[in-house]
Amino acid sequence: MRIRSVILAAGQGTRMRSEIPKVLHPLLGQAMLQYALEAVKPVTAEKSILVVGHGAEALHQAFGGSVEFVLQEPQLGTGHATAQAEPLLRDEADLVLVTYGDMPLLTSETIGKIVQTQAAHAGPLTMLTLVVQEARGFGRVLRDEQGWVRKIVEEAQATPDELEIHELNVGVYCFQADWLWNALRRIPLSPKGEYYLTDTVGLAVSDGLTVQACLLDDASEGIGINTRVHLAEAEAVLRRRINEKWMLAGVTLVDPVRTYIEPGVRIGQDTVIWPDTYLQGNTVIGAGCTLGPNTIIWRSQIGDQCRVVASVVEGALVEEQVQIGPFGHLRSGAHLARGVHMGNFGEVKNSYLGPFTRMGHFSYVGDAQVGPDVNIGAGTITCNFDGQKKNPTEIGQGAFIGSGTMLVAPVKLGEGAQTGAGAVVTQDIPPYTLSVGVPAHPIRKLRQGE
Ligand code: UD1
Ligand code: MG
Repeated sequence: MRIRSVILAAGQGTRMRSEIPKVLHPLLGQAMLQYALEAVKPVTAEKSILVVGHGAEALHQAFGGSVEFVLQEPQLGTGHATAQAEPLLRDEADLVLVTYGDMPLLTSETIGKIVQTQAAHAGPLTMLTLVVQEARGFGRVLRDEQGWVRKIVEEAQATPDELEIHELNVGVYCFQADWLWNALRRIPLSPKGEYYLTDTVGLAVSDGLTVQACLLDDASEGIGINTRVHLAEAEAVLRRRINEKWMLAGVTLVDPVRTYIEPGVRIGQDTVIWPDTYLQGNTVIGAGCTLGPNTIIWRSQIGDQCRVVASVVEGALVEEQVQIGPFGHLRSGAHLARGVHMGNFGEVKNSYLGPFTRMGHFSYVGDAQVGPDVNIGAGTITCNFDGQKKNPTEIGQGAFIGSGTMLVAPVKLGEGAQTGAGAVVTQDIPPYTLSVGVPAHPIRKLRQGE
């Protein structure tokens, strides 16, 4: 059976009051629409058809390549939007799944259930319903005395009695393709000047056909987003789902409500995460780490048994048993080798710190290659920018940089080199040599181990 999916995303999303197309609003770091696309993926091997209109260009930019686009212009309602997919799908599909781009919490299991139900029945469509107290502006599902679905009434058209109905239309439908294309032409124009996809239900019944309806068990899947209030509700649900997954996988979240883990993140067992920690992008965290409180880790890799407290880590690679913070900042290209200690108020950018190097307090290391077992004294700065370009610093194994040293790059310090407190290093320092002063000059050779 050939199954294709159509996702509607051409509406303006007026109720969001935004310049950004509704379906591009992010939820836990990825566009709302991304969730809808992922949820339909398992039911069809083909690309989804995305119906776009408002903000079409931004959607092309965000999803070009991963979907087939059709343009709906002007936007005359969800029925009209679905009809735009007909030229692409006519004679190409037996079943057509239609969902809305503003329903990011629906799972593949639920969508799969709708498709399977339709595949097993002779009727023209299967739809998904939900019973909740709060109607959220959703369409109401009307049933007859025998319990068969009779029609969907949109809130704007509902009578006071119909408004009291608590069974709602979620917005997932699986249609028999040929019946759908024909029915779309028969949808009447609504008083609001739109063609409602939901009217296909009434059309099926007037054709003397039966409509299958599946009831959603988990009401939170039916949170559709029309306003920013809904957006925040959906974000909370997604966060809870992700957090529960990690807790069940062996990660301790001290306060899950205040822990923000994006969908692309991976975390090793026995890691403990303190509140107000944000793990973002494709971040990978090792096992047995302690993260937070108050920590942001974005697109970074953290090895096993690391400790990161009240720090910001962006685009960094951190090996195992590294300690960062409080108040550390790793920026893009920072690579801390095993056992590095980076204490409070340190910043590292585009630099390698070798194994067991210590950088305790108030230092900036940028564009530097630092060997193992180096001691970087408090307040050491790599002066890497000369106003035009960034210059490199090299520091050899076991070097000892005195407090307040300014390393004016480009500059190289040999293995075992030392600087005195407050040295301004403008020239390379040979191995095992102590340099002091402003500008720093060598005062004596050192014996190894001194
Ligand atoms: C729709 C349903 C309602 C259901 C609710 C669930 C209709 C008429 N109503 O209402 O029964 O309970 O979803 O969330 O279908 N769109 C287009 N082109 C258009 C209009 C809309 O592509 O011309 C897209 C929108 O971008 C959006 C989706 O269709 O992604 C739904 O539109 P929206 O305006 O949010 O409909 P609801 O009022 O939520
Ligand atoms: Mg909606």
